[in-house]
Amino acid sequence: RTTELDSICLKAEVIPVLTIERIEDAIPLGRALVEGGLPVLEITLRTDCALEAIRRMNEALPGASVGAGTVLTPAQYRQAEQVGADFVVTPGATDALYRYGVSSPVPMLPGVATISELMNGWQYGYRRFKFFPAEASGGVAAIKAFGGPIPEARFCPTGGITLENAESYLKQPNVMCVGGSWLTPKKLIDDEDWEGIKALAQQAADRFHH
Ligand code: 3PG
Repeated sequence: RTTELDSICLKAEVIPVLTIERIEDAIPLGRALVEGGLPVLEITLRTDCALEAIRRMNEALPGASVGAGTVLTPAQYRQAEQVGADFVVTPGATDALYRYGVSSPVPMLPGVATISELMNGWQYGYRRFKFFPAEASGGVAAIKAFGGPIPEARFCPTGGITLENAESYLKQPNVMCVGGSWLTPKKLIDDEDWEGIKALAQQAADRFHH
């Protein structure tokens, strides 16, 4: 699991978090991000077409890793598996999700915001986490502090990350990548401005290249 997640996160320092309202946007939006240099995409299950979007993007964008985000229950986890999600991201974690994830073929990046939550995931064998909501939960200082008691844990901070503050997270030894919605502004999607989205992706990919 840890190895699978690491190989996905190694593909990009920045993971765009996408909320897709119109299914027609899925492929051009995903293509713009991948062409801009960000091949790992998290599609939130916050809209009716999200699962179908994952299915289509997986087919149309073979070089990309397409995961499901905002997974709240084992039932949603199963749906993500069924549409071919490469990984699952949760905003927080429950014991039911942890247990489901241990036996699923699709790796889960569970969300944690505190040391106690981290310890709970740790005892189920999880070693890679989403730190959410990063800025509201202590930001870089919290990530540094997590590295004291549990230095082996690695994080993808998400929630309030921007082009400006991403670097301060990525410099931390226990940060593997960052995620965020700043690469997919609603206005650009509504205007079908795929060149604009690609430019945002390129800007992030250039700035944070491994
Ligand atoms: C998520 O689910 O990861 C967040 O909605 C992304 O947070 P952001 O919108 O602050 O980038």
